[in-house]
Amino acid sequence: PLVTTAELVREARAAGHGVAAFNVITLEHAEAVAAGAEAAGRPAVVQISQNAVRFHGGRLAPVAAATAEVCRASSARLALHLDHVDSVELLHAAHRCGFSSVMFDASKLPYADNVKATARAVRWGHEREIWVEAELGAVGGKAGDAHTPGVRTDPVEAAGFTAATGVDALAVAVGSSHAMTERTATLDVELIARLRQAVPVPLVLHGSSGVPDGQLRRAVAAGMVKVNVGTALNVAFTGRVRELLAADQAVVDPRRYLRGAREAMAATVARFLAVVGDGAAG
Ligand code: G3H
Ligand code: ZN
Repeated sequence: PLVTTAELVREARAAGHGVAAFNVITLEHAEAVAAGAEAAGRPAVVQISQNAVRFHGGRLAPVAAATAEVCRASSARLALHLDHVDSVELLHAAHRCGFSSVMFDASKLPYADNVKATARAVRWGHEREIWVEAELGAVGGKAGDAHTPGVRTDPVEAAGFTAATGVDALAVAVGSSHAMTERTATLDVELIARLRQAVPVPLVLHGSSGVPDGQLRRAVAAGMVKVNVGTALNVAFTGRVRELLAADQAVVDPRRYLRGAREAMAATVARFLAVVGDGAAG
C-alpha cells in the first residue's frame, strides 16, 4: 500500500533503525523497489528526483501516477517522495500527485537564502500535510557539481537552521557524496552523533550508494534515519542490461533484458533494506 514518509520515518526512528529511500527513474525501477521491499519484508520510501522528472520531459504527473500505483498495488508499505527539488513550480506540482513528502534543496544557496527559501517551502508543505526535508551543507557529487566528500554540516548551524525553517528532517553532509559507483566513502560517525544531539528532527543521509555496509550500520546506530540510495541501483540495473545484451546480439525486445535488470535491482534493494532496517542491531 501507499503510506506516508512521515509514518515510516517516525516508526524507524522509534525502533532505532533506519528506513531506506530509493531513487527511481523508470517504471521498471519502481517495480524493482516494490519487489525488493516485498522480498525483504520491510517498508521503503520510493523517490523521484527533479532530475528524473526532467528526463521525462518535465512532466511529473505520468511518472508520479505510475509510481504511486505500483506502491498501492504492492504488499509492502511504500511511501512516495519528491527528491532534490529546487524548482518551486515542481514543488507545488507535487501536491495531489501521491507524494507525502518532498526534499526541498536550497543547499547550494548562501545560508541566509537557504533558510528563507526552505522556510517558505516548509510553510507551503505544512499547509498541505506534506513532510519536508531540506539540506544544510551541500553533499555534492550531483551532475555539474564537484565531488565534494570533504564538506561537513556544522551542528550549531544545523540546530539554528532546523529551528529557523521548521523542517521535518535534515539532510547533512557527513562524508558521503552523490553518484559514487564504488563503496569507498568514509563517514564521520562521531559528527553524526553530535548532529543527532544538536538537531531535534531525524537526519537524512544522501549519497549512500558509496557507503560500505558496516558504515551504513554505524551511521544508523549513531542517528541517521532516512538513508537515500540511487546510484547503486543503477549499477545493478545497467550492469545486468549490459551482460544480457552482450550475451545475445540478436535481442530486440526490451523485455528480454529489462526483466533481468529489474530482478538485479530488486535484489540490491532487498540487500540495502536488510542493512539499513536493522542498523542499530548490526
Ligand atoms: O537523493 C538521492 C540520494 O542521495 C542518492 O545518492 O545516487 O549517490 O546513492 P546516490
Ligand atoms: Zn541526494
